[in-house]
Amino acid sequence: MGVPAGAYGAVVAALICYSLCSIAATEVAGGVSRKQTAAQKHLRRINKPAVKSVQSPDGDVIDCVHIAHQPAFDHPFLKNHTIQLRPAFYPEGLYGDSKIASKPSEKSSSSIDQLWHQNGRCPEGTIPIRRTKREDVLRSSSVKRFGKKKHRTIPKPRSADPELINESGHQHAIAYVEGDKYYGAKAIINVWEPSIQRSNEFSLSQLWILGGSFGEDLNSIEAGWQVSPDLYGDNNTRLFTYWTSDAYQATGCYNLLCSGFIQINSNIAMGASISPISEYSGSQYDISILVWKDPKEGNWWMQFGSDYVLGYWPSFLFSYLADSASMIEWGGEVVNSEPDGEHTATQMGSGHFPEEGFGKASYFRNIQIVDESNNLRSPKGIGAFTEQSNCYDVQTGNNGDWGSYFYYGGPGEMPIVNTRNG
Ligand SMILES: *[C@@H]1O[C@H](CO)[C@@H](O)[C@H](O)[C@H]1NC(C)=O
Ligand SMILES: *[C@@H]1O[C@H](CO)[C@@H](O)[C@H](O)[C@H]1NC(C)=O
Ligand SMILES: *[C@@H]1O[C@H](CO)[C@@H](O)[C@H](O)[C@H]1NC(C)=O
Repeated sequence: MGVPAGAYGAVVAALICYSLCSIAATEVAGGVSRKQTAAQKHLRRINKPAVKSVQSPDGDVIDCVHIAHQPAFDHPFLKNHTIQLRPAFYPEGLYGDSKIASKPSEKSSSSIDQLWHQNGRCPEGTIPIRRTKREDVLRSSSVKRFGKKKHRTIPKPRSADPELINESGHQHAIAYVEGDKYYGAKAIINVWEPSIQRSNEFSLSQLWILGGSFGEDLNSIEAGWQVSPDLYGDNNTRLFTYWTSDAYQATGCYNLLCSGFIQINSNIAMGASISPISEYSGSQYDISILVWKDPKEGNWWMQFGSDYVLGYWPSFLFSYLADSASMIEWGGEVVNSEPDGEHTATQMGSGHFPEEGFGKASYFRNIQIVDESNNLRSPKGIGAFTEQSNCYDVQTGNNGDWGSYFYYGGPGEMPIVNTRNG
């Protein structure tokens, strides 16, 4: 508390560098030490001076950074930006819609918290940012790719381009809608801690707001929870966001790891661990995520739970999404990095198949879209897609309390004799 975090970080970094850099210099040629230097530079750019820092029980340091000093304002187009402290409009039907029942369950989502809250909070006028460690950057294939998804990770359900699937090794079990103009999406997602077989794999559950065709200029806004040893250095389940305006190439990143998203909330840190987690045959915990386009200013806002408006992606970051989205997807994604013929045992969701149902399988419930008239409503014509249903599957449904919902996920690798899928 009250520690000048910038200075502290520099001391720690210098100590780590002292040992690592000398190894790099003696044992390995220039490449490694160039990466070390680039990592150092990158850390100085993305870790902003903190007003106060909170040590989280999971090993994270959460820096409370003055709202005007956040990474967004490194963006040349945001130099003169006036921060919007609230959206001009919420979607109609967000509050006080009796058809969206499940008030009691909404409570369970507000009891979900972030682990670092156990040791402190950020003051008003600051935003909490997970401090990036040197090791975080060094784990990345290159400093330039740190905080970015690998290219082409979005499933394209209708055509299911096999090249796309095999090139990336990414696998999905999703529900989706397309063929209309969409201005937002919402879902309540239960939270699990899927096990990850290899450290270069991940497992996540999220919604995608997509604009444009699936070409080099695909626009995407994404939010949900993820387990990613590569990005965070552990197996904790974390809240995350992502954006890109060029199909994961040069623009966009996770969380606040580049400039773009403008955060206004002092309670929730993107990339921080979520707690508690649902238990198999035990308590279920879910989070609510809403992303919508403010019809007045055009910015894309995000709300977490029923209380926390996190902030917004300015409209100018995007091309297609500057107008509207053309497709919404909800569901899980994992990376399968096994060589030919094998399949990873990395789990999706709870690691159990949809058939097992409530308390065992993972779900998205009360999935909704925001339509052209800014109404939040149940989507029409929901499709479902998975590349390999014997590894990860999806089953959609509809009922009074849960509206449109689906169960999804699975264990990944299956025994060789597999009666389930013929
Ligand atoms: C910001 O404001 C300054 C001074 O008014 C102006 O010179 C500059 O062009 C503006 N930058 C942007 C990106 O609008
Ligand atoms: C992906 O590659 C594997 C192994 O090379 C092959 O067996 C499989 O048929 C391919 N999948 C598709 C959808 O083409
Ligand atoms: C994450 O989980 C995998 C397997 O479940 C384990 O091998 C690995 O050591 C864990 N990583 C960390 C950083 O705890």
